[in-house]
Amino acid sequence: MSAGILGMGKFVPERVVTNIDLEKVMDTSDEWIRTRTGIEERRIADDNTNTSDMAFAAAEQAIKNAGLTAKDIDLILVATVTPDHPFPSVACMLQDKLGARHIPAMDISAACSGFIYGMVTAKQFIDNRTFQHVLVVGVEKLSKITDWDDRGTAVLFGDAAAAAVMGQVSDGKGILSFELGADGSGGKYLYQDDRFIKMNGREVFKFAVRQMGESAVNVVEKAGLKKEDIDYLIPHQANIRIMEASRERLEIPEDKMIKTIQKYGNTSASSIPLALIDAVEEGQIKDGDLLVMVGFGGGLTWGALTLKWGK
Ligand code: UT7
Repeated sequence: MSAGILGMGKFVPERVVTNIDLEKVMDTSDEWIRTRTGIEERRIADDNTNTSDMAFAAAEQAIKNAGLTAKDIDLILVATVTPDHPFPSVACMLQDKLGARHIPAMDISAACSGFIYGMVTAKQFIDNRTFQHVLVVGVEKLSKITDWDDRGTAVLFGDAAAAAVMGQVSDGKGILSFELGADGSGGKYLYQDDRFIKMNGREVFKFAVRQMGESAVNVVEKAGLKKEDIDYLIPHQANIRIMEASRERLEIPEDKMIKTIQKYGNTSASSIPLALIDAVEEGQIKDGDLLVMVGFGGGLTWGALTLKWGK
């Protein structure tokens, strides 16, 4: 038996902000944003919807989708860099909102790699039989730390939540291999100051292209697989050009890369699970498919894993 995904859920705010909308409020263009990033629109949460609210909506759906109730959850991990407050954690707030038992709950701060960090952490507790069901949530309300006067970052981000209930799945399915890493010396390239996201786009771009490709190849090798065994690549949806670079490194065709960046932008910790759930809902990813998920983010951090889809 191995650790895998038993159910998933998502929440995206209703309000759609298109590139054309942004053209009206800042010195940018739909053409620039599309060609440099692949983004067409993003979702922005309203003032009354905070990170824990989005996490709750996605988590409730994931638990239901797994055929469980909140009382069945043994651990809550929330990957976010935009918590409602520095503390209590979103995970603790979520435990209360869900009406879960007094189980352990904590946030994971690994920026856009956070969901992969969460899945790998959940796997350890599931493999050693400490916990049966672990709720892992990737959630961000990036709009509250976005500097709308900085066109270099403002056009990139969106708000969203996606959640997975993890537990034991049948032999051969679930997580087959993983890799996590961090290089704190690169923290200066992507961080939050007192208020806003600050980014050296070019440095982050170079790091991402190198690291995403390398980690994706590493996890495939670690699982004893070949590149041609991969059914779908689910990269962190940060920039289509970065995603393409990792796809080319894995030598997989265009239609085997899951792409949702055009409709959500970069939603940090929720981007990978959001892309996964959309692809499953649309019938693209099917039982038994071999998936490679790979992400990078502020820290700098990175994480990748191979997962055989299904229970
Ligand atoms: O989850 C991790 C988060 N971070 C990332 O994934 C970011 C990684 N980096 C990137 O995705 C890219 O570096 C960006 C999309 C941020 C920028 O693309 P780029 O091709 O590296 O552009 P650049 O920063 O080299 O800027 C090129 C030009 C500049 O003008 P000049 O100096 O050539 O006249 C910028 O001022 O584009 C200008 N520019 C813009 N123009 C219109 C920068 N932002 C914009 C904008 N609209 N929004």
